[in-house]
Amino acid sequence: MIITSELTKELRMQFALDWQGIHGAAHWARVRANGLKLAEASQARTDVVELFSFFHDSMRANDDFDPHHGIRAAHYVESLRGKLFELDDSGLDLLKLACEEHSNGLMDADITVQVCWDADRLDLGRVGIRPDPYRLCTEAAKDAEMIEWAYARSIKGHSD
Ligand SMILES: [Fe+2]
Repeated sequence: MIITSELTKELRMQFALDWQGIHGAAHWARVRANGLKLAEASQARTDVVELFSFFHDSMRANDDFDPHHGIRAAHYVESLRGKLFELDDSGLDLLKLACEEHSNGLMDADITVQVCWDADRLDLGRVGIRPDPYRLCTEAAKDAEMIEWAYARSIKGHSD
């Protein structure tokens, strides 16, 4: 398990927003679950996907417009590697790119990065948006059953 209780504790301690809010812990957990499900159908790296789920929104300064939160998350990832989690250099590159660009609407990237972005986009139901298959990157995420599964969980507020 790459997400340890020590790592979660650190992330929670520095998180500036509401832990129960739209970019807080339950969202991170659902992104993780979405990502692991998508990774089953692809060659995506689960260590990167799991770390992305817990890091990508961790440096948000507000719940609205915060265009640099992904870049801050990428720096944060780098500062904790080797301290609170282990990741090789190529995994770090993928994770940083996934964090940096996750809110810019991109589609084309390495499969691991695509799975990270799709996992996040599949959780848009929590803010009243049904995920649009044309804005998802991977075939696994575009699958109608996958979208419905993730959408239902996002609306009900699942936290696992
Ligand atoms: Fe997110």
